[in-house]
Amino acid sequence: MSEHGSAKPTKGILLAGGSGTRLHPMTLAVSKQLLPVYDKPMIFYPLSTLMLAGIRDIMIISTPADLPLFRRLLGDGADMGVTFTYREQPAPDGIAQAFVIADDWLDDSPCGLILGDNLIFADHLGKQMRAAATRPSGATVFAYQVRDPERYGVVNFSENGHALDIVEKPTEPKSNWAVTGLYFYDGRVREYARSLKPSPRGELEITDLNRLYLQSDELHVQRLGRGCAWLDAGMPDSLMQAGQFVQTIQSRQGLLVGSPHEVAFRMGFIDAAGLEAYARGMIKTELGQSLMAIAHGEG
Ligand code: DAU
Repeated sequence: MSEHGSAKPTKGILLAGGSGTRLHPMTLAVSKQLLPVYDKPMIFYPLSTLMLAGIRDIMIISTPADLPLFRRLLGDGADMGVTFTYREQPAPDGIAQAFVIADDWLDDSPCGLILGDNLIFADHLGKQMRAAATRPSGATVFAYQVRDPERYGVVNFSENGHALDIVEKPTEPKSNWAVTGLYFYDGRVREYARSLKPSPRGELEITDLNRLYLQSDELHVQRLGRGCAWLDAGMPDSLMQAGQFVQTIQSRQGLLVGSPHEVAFRMGFIDAAGLEAYARGMIKTELGQSLMAIAHGEG
C-alpha cells in the first residue's frame, strides 16, 4: 500500500474524441481514431499500448456521435480479456477533462491515459510502462525528441537531467523534447484534474495537470531514445507515414504491430483458444492468419 492508498490495479483511459478537423473531409463522417493505419483501425495501436502496460479495465471516451461506432468495433472487451466502459465527451474541452468525465469510475485508482491518435513503438516500452503503472506515487510522462517542438507540450531539463518546466505549445521552445500522449498518474489525479481551470484557449490542459505534479516534484519524465517511433496520425502526411511504418515493419519482420489481440494473448489476458476464435473470424486477412499462427505457437 502506498502513501496515497493505491494498492488498486491501474485503470486506463483511451481518449478518442475531438473533431479531426486537420483530416477533413476524411473525418466528416468517420472518427479520426477509426481511420485505417495500414491494416487496423487507428485506435488498435494506442489500445495495444495500454494493454501492454498490464491495464485491463479501460474507459473509452469519445464524442456522442462516434461512441456507438467504437462500441461496435470493440464490444465489451471479452475477446481481448479486458473490460471496456464507454463514456461521452460532449465537446472537446481538453484532454485533462477525461479525468473529470471518469471521476466516479476512477475512484482513487491510479490511471494511465493515452490519446487515440498516438502510436508509440519502442523496445522495452512494455517494461517501462509497467514500472510507471505500478509506481506508488507521482506521475510519469514520456518525452521524445522532435524537430518541431512548438506543436507539442515541451519539457526542458537541468544539466543533471531533472525536469525543470513543462509548457504547452511554446512559441520559443526551451528544448526539443516533446511530451507524448501517454501518461500515468497516481490516485490523486482526479483531485488535481478537478482543480484545473480552462486555459486561454478554453481547454483543461493536460500540460497544466502535469505541471501540478512537476511543482510537487512528483513528475517522472522518461525519455524515449533514438530508434523509438512516436507518430501522431492527426494529419494526412502523418497518417500515411504511420501506415507505411506499420507495413514496413510487418512485412519485413513478419511481426504484428499494434494488435490488441496479440498483446492480450502474450500478456495472458486470453488463452490460445480465445485468440484462435478471434483469428478464425478474420482468416481471410493476413492479420487473421498471423494471429492464428501465434495461437498455434508459430508466431
Ligand atoms: O500528441 C501529444 C500532444 O497532445 C502533447 O504533446 C500536448 O501536450 C497535448 O496538449 C496534445 O496536443 P495536441 O495539439 O495534439 O492536442 P489535440 O487537441 O490535437 O488532441 C489530441 C487528441 O486528443 C486528438 O486526437 C483528439 C483528442 N481530444 C482532444 C481534446 C482537446 C479529445 O478526445 N478531447 C479533447 O477535448
